[in-house]
Amino acid sequence: MTKPIWIAPSLLAADFARLGAELQAVDRAGADWIHLDVMDGHFVPNMSYGADVIKALRPLSKSVFDVHLMIAPVDPYLEQFAKAGADIITIHAEAGAHTYRSLQAIRALGCKAGLALNPGTPVAVIKPVLEVVDLVLLMTVNPGFGGQAFIHPVVEKIERVRDLIGDRDIMLEVDGGVTVDTAPLCAKAGAHVLVAGSAVFKAGDEAGYKHEIARIRQAAEAAQH
Ligand code: DX5
Ligand code: ZN
Repeated sequence: MTKPIWIAPSLLAADFARLGAELQAVDRAGADWIHLDVMDGHFVPNMSYGADVIKALRPLSKSVFDVHLMIAPVDPYLEQFAKAGADIITIHAEAGAHTYRSLQAIRALGCKAGLALNPGTPVAVIKPVLEVVDLVLLMTVNPGFGGQAFIHPVVEKIERVRDLIGDRDIMLEVDGGVTVDTAPLCAKAGAHVLVAGSAVFKAGDEAGYKHEIARIRQAAEAAQH
């Protein structure tokens, strides 16, 4: 069965001096989820923002807050992201030795639990955790920066994860280099949550965001059929 396409703009590409206004602009422009990239300068070679920023943004939006933690260790910080208002907390398979336990901890905090895989990580790592995962995020760039080029060989991984998921109630998200050109490849392979940072925000203003979100959605939906 075809799942609806959800577009999740990443605020990493927004104007940080106007973060609240940018969030509200993409909400009005048709974002389904808001993707929030947390980077620690250790697990990935860049830093972004943490739980306090997410907590400050929370009252400004009713959208699903899709929090992507690119941090290690991750366990000591899960509770503060749940309290900050995350709906989904995604951790990286490469970030710790006890993925199963971390995913269980996220669910125990009342959030949906996501597992992200870097481009070089084999899809087999999701097999043992399928029963504790609500979302699989496949990185289509190496995490750490917005605006990078889509890594095409990951498309084949999307198909394999889709097959592994089968008819389980698990969402399949892609993140990195998603544009109107690459979104259809992802959707055709079985991804239905598409993170888009620079593709949306480079459009400059709310009308541009709306146009870009609609174009990406349309291209992805057309590829599903
Ligand atoms: C990369 C982040 C992405 C990033 C996507 O480490 O996880 O969410 O913001 O940005 P674009 O869409 O510009 O590749
Ligand atoms: Zn991300």
